[in-house]
Amino acid sequence: MVDHPLAKARLTTMRDARSDSVEFRAALHELTVMLIYEAMRDAPVVTERIHTPIARTTGHRLANPPLLVPVLRAGLGMADQAHRLIPDAQMGFVGLARDERTLQPTPYMESLPDDLSGRPVFVLDPMLATGGSMAYTIRLLTERGATDVTAVCALVAPEGIKRLEESGLPVRVVTASVDERLNDSGFIVPGLGDAGDRQYGAV
Ligand code: PRP
Repeated sequence: MVDHPLAKARLTTMRDARSDSVEFRAALHELTVMLIYEAMRDAPVVTERIHTPIARTTGHRLANPPLLVPVLRAGLGMADQAHRLIPDAQMGFVGLARDERTLQPTPYMESLPDDLSGRPVFVLDPMLATGGSMAYTIRLLTERGATDVTAVCALVAPEGIKRLEESGLPVRVVTASVDERLNDSGFIVPGLGDAGDRQYGAV
């Protein structure tokens, strides 16, 4: 959990139905920085000797930057910010649209490296609702050998967390909020509506 006043403030902007798409995207960008910062807290580093203008000292850089995988559309709003924080990261893409009636994810795009063994992967999606989209994405990753997956989500529903737990998939979740529940239409309550529509408009 990213439990910080600045994260709460950005999430509040995203939740507020009065926020327009410009405000929503800006808040998601800033919240993403905080989520990625926390998700990388225990990332391994390698040391190297460097010179400052004054003296020699020990520097650090990431030993194994994660593959970033935004889930289209909504995850695109997190991709650039995550990439700025981890410029060495490679990026893959998964496109999924949740069927509004069945709530099942319908895949329409996939661009991932063939071999993910030994590589940490960060899946970027603002929302985890039933967990179907995230579980589908993680299966794509584990089929390629990934064993270290982090779901980076602005907010999640308890139902989605439970589903991931029961799936046995190798995933940890970093989020700014575990909301109350899903409603009958599969929307997170209180949630923020549809993160794709809020960013890009309904299409
Ligand atoms: C939303 C959201 C997740 C998914 C969550 O995307 O961004 O990807 O639904 O729901 P789930 O946990 O029940 O699978 P959506 O399918 O609406 O597509 P979009 O990003 O294009 O708006």
